[in-house]
Amino acid sequence: MGRWAGFTIAADDKGAPLNYLTGSGAAAHPVVALTWWLFIVSCVVVVIISALVLWGVMSRAIQGRAPAEVPVTRQGQGLRWITWGVGVSSVVLVISLIWTIAALAGVSNPPVKPPLTIRVTGHQWWWEATYAPHTTAQFTTANELHIPVGVPVRVELASTDVIHSFWVPQLAGKTDTIPGRVNLAWLEADHPGVYWGQCTEYCGEQHAHMAFRVVAEPRAKFEAWSLSQLAPAATPSAPDALRGEQIFVTRCGACHAVRGTEAGGTVAPDLTHLMSRSTIAAGTLANTPANLSGWIANPQGVKPGALMPTIYLSGPELGAVRTYLETLR
Ligand code: CUA
Repeated sequence: MGRWAGFTIAADDKGAPLNYLTGSGAAAHPVVALTWWLFIVSCVVVVIISALVLWGVMSRAIQGRAPAEVPVTRQGQGLRWITWGVGVSSVVLVISLIWTIAALAGVSNPPVKPPLTIRVTGHQWWWEATYAPHTTAQFTTANELHIPVGVPVRVELASTDVIHSFWVPQLAGKTDTIPGRVNLAWLEADHPGVYWGQCTEYCGEQHAHMAFRVVAEPRAKFEAWSLSQLAPAATPSAPDALRGEQIFVTRCGACHAVRGTEAGGTVAPDLTHLMSRSTIAAGTLANTPANLSGWIANPQGVKPGALMPTIYLSGPELGAVRTYLETLR
């Protein structure tokens, strides 16, 4: 966690926002192995070329001779360098090509038919997630996916506005979300844990603040989470929270949905179980009471350009809305 302008900033549990140099799932391992190969080859190329350039310059300088053009002839020494350079480069490039094709083949399809489908829709600038979208037992959440450990999960990717790109580096490669079509991806986590994701296609002002989390957990825990998400929000009993609910429905309900209430907006995140998420504003802020108040009071101060307008609420109204939101467990 970090601090910024009085807010607590969301950060990954190990302090690094994304880690793409290790893989944690079957859809990521081939990609990460290829990443390392290309990274090491690139480093070796830079070292060899730098050494040769330095050697060429220094050897003439040490001998006290001015730089001269060496003609490349069929009998000359220069030709040997070209033969070696082209030969070694060709071998490395062919290996990289074969490796790339193998990696693509390795991640094109999950090893078994995924038991779970999630439809993830990119919005400027947040992620909508609908679980079991082709069934009647579907539910929608935002910016925080939960998946069961050890099984592949099918992800249908869509967009409502511009092209975004869905990337959870530890679990899979990148796949774009393109308006008007559905792209397919799949994720699988080897171990329970929290994996960070990020939009990786520039999509406007708040592209950098379009993050999400994937929480991988044991099957029983995942099923318990699904059941709790499927349920509508409970009606609050405290008078302050009830008042907050009324304000929320009239002032926020055209954009946001809370299932079980009159608030049924679909252009902004579904907040039915807001308190089950660890971040708000698409991974930008930690989900704390102070951040919630600050975000509602001044969303443009946190994410300039975000589509969430400032709703002018009095102090007591803001307090009541926050109290209500805190009941959405
Ligand atoms: Cu969405 Cu970048």
